[in-house]
Amino acid sequence: MYRSHNCGELRMDHVGQDVVLSGWVQSNRDFGGLTFIDLRDRYGITQVVFNMDDDAALCEEARKLGREFVVKVEGSVRERSNKNPNRATGNIEIEVKKLDILNASKTPPFTIEEDTDGGEELRMKYRYLDLRRNNTQNNIIFRSQVGIETRKYLSAKSFVEIETPFLIKSTPEGARDFVVPSRMNPGEFYALPQSPQTFKQVLMVSGFDKYFQIVKCFRDEDLRADRQPEFTQIDCEMSFVTREDILNTFEGLTKHLFKTCINEELPDFPRMSYDDAMRLYGSDKPDLRFDMQFVELNDIAKGKDFPVFNDAELVVGINAKACADAYSNKDIKKLTEWMQRPQIGAKGLVYVKYNADGSFKSSIGKFYDDNDFKAWADKFGAEPGDMMLILSGETDKVRKQLNELRLEMGSRLNLIKAGDFKPLWVLDFPLLEWDEDAERFHAMHHPFTAPKKADEERMLNGDFETMKSLKADAYDLVINGSEIGGGSIRIHDRALQEKNFKLLGFTQEEAEEQFGFLLGAFEYGAPPHGGLAFGFDRICAVMKGQSSIRDFIAFPKNNQGRDMMIDAPSKIDNTQLDELNLELNLPEKE
Ligand code: AMO
Repeated sequence: MYRSHNCGELRMDHVGQDVVLSGWVQSNRDFGGLTFIDLRDRYGITQVVFNMDDDAALCEEARKLGREFVVKVEGSVRERSNKNPNRATGNIEIEVKKLDILNASKTPPFTIEEDTDGGEELRMKYRYLDLRRNNTQNNIIFRSQVGIETRKYLSAKSFVEIETPFLIKSTPEGARDFVVPSRMNPGEFYALPQSPQTFKQVLMVSGFDKYFQIVKCFRDEDLRADRQPEFTQIDCEMSFVTREDILNTFEGLTKHLFKTCINEELPDFPRMSYDDAMRLYGSDKPDLRFDMQFVELNDIAKGKDFPVFNDAELVVGINAKACADAYSNKDIKKLTEWMQRPQIGAKGLVYVKYNADGSFKSSIGKFYDDNDFKAWADKFGAEPGDMMLILSGETDKVRKQLNELRLEMGSRLNLIKAGDFKPLWVLDFPLLEWDEDAERFHAMHHPFTAPKKADEERMLNGDFETMKSLKADAYDLVINGSEIGGGSIRIHDRALQEKNFKLLGFTQEEAEEQFGFLLGAFEYGAPPHGGLAFGFDRICAVMKGQSSIRDFIAFPKNNQGRDMMIDAPSKIDNTQLDELNLELNLPEKE
């Protein structure tokens, strides 16, 4: 027997009992006559004690145990004289009578503790050790719990879990595909799915009615804290539903996950149109944990002698509460430089301080008087002591820049409370996005998204300008400024789908070649349907108040898309290349 109990469960009730524990040596403290070992497993840490007076040989052996040795101890539970209130097992310890070393360990390259001394790359290389740390392990256990609760909720609502293939033909979702050469079909390639989008739609045509899958998706795109090349979706689709049915179902799922996994009761989710989100926050994923809405000033800031504002498409700002005194000229200069970095690209930043005495101070004071500024302050709802920060220029660019400034000021002013959750449905996205450089439309969500019912006719018969204004029946779930999920009502009519492909620049042959199966399926009784996919890694991270999804993935990739532990990607040998009929044509190394 390796253990009668785990390392996290013994309490005062067990005092006097003989127990067997197995685990890893977290620390070894030698006090001459006494040796204390903290024994760790997934469930916790228990202190075990070796006493020189009781058994000198055993104590000698214990002294030699290094960090991360795997041991089994037998002994009795006793009350600790020096209790540790910070540990669940802190009232007791084990007086050891027998020790078995189950395996030795080299000294680990970093400490296996909550606050480890290991850098990120080192921890990724030794991921098995990083995953031995309780906090990392708890994230993965948490993820498992979220997955189980998802399955419980959806299966209770009659969703069927169906696996779809990984070796498929490319599905255009906006990123590059990872491709896999086919040995049996020389010169041909599979693509790994960016999502199971077309399969789940076909399943609706088959009549499954409600589908879900917790599924890996693969996208060859630039990586960030919230993006991995392979990530997981909770992917769902439903037939005979309206947008309302879908929003209610997945708002229900989200509330269930928050309640069961972190005991958080979420109120009903507010909703906002895409247009309002862009107008008020300059982002389609506004962080509603703090206010600081945009205020547009075109009507009162234009028409004076300040050409920059007069020439701008949009003059818009935010109110930084109580910052008038806190921001010196030097601070404002630094903030302006921060906004002018290439990542943000603002041309400049205008400030208007509403001083405590009711007067105003501004970088553009010579163009406007205090009466003008008072009118602005009223529009901002600003009070004496506040500072208005204003940008101007092309609408889309300026909104994006001001969004960055808003998030920065929110964080500088500590407006985000830890443990606060602000979900939001963003609705009515544009159907198409015009790409100036490529001179073509892209689907804002994906090519299978339906226009809003009222826009169907305009889509089929409208001119080019009309296409730019079409709205889609598409929605995103945003929590705390992170896009947690997205979906849409789908096109289920061949003519409309063909029109959409045409708008997106597919020739009829290309559409047939890539999506003939779907267009074909639409001719055999496709039901009205729609769905959504949650970013599973993202929802786990957001629920735990963290920004990096890597901590919730057992074996994540680094920013170069490499798995540091197994050292992938890697070269393959010539035999494999020959079998796949592939020839490498790499540029000569210098
Ligand atoms: P979408 O592309 O919006 O929709 O993806 C759905 C959700 O998946 C998450 N996500 C990611 N998470 C981690 N790393 C990535 N690289 C990554 N890319 C996306 C986001 C996102 O909201 N087929 C559609 C869904 C549908 O229409 O039903 C789709 O994939 O949280």
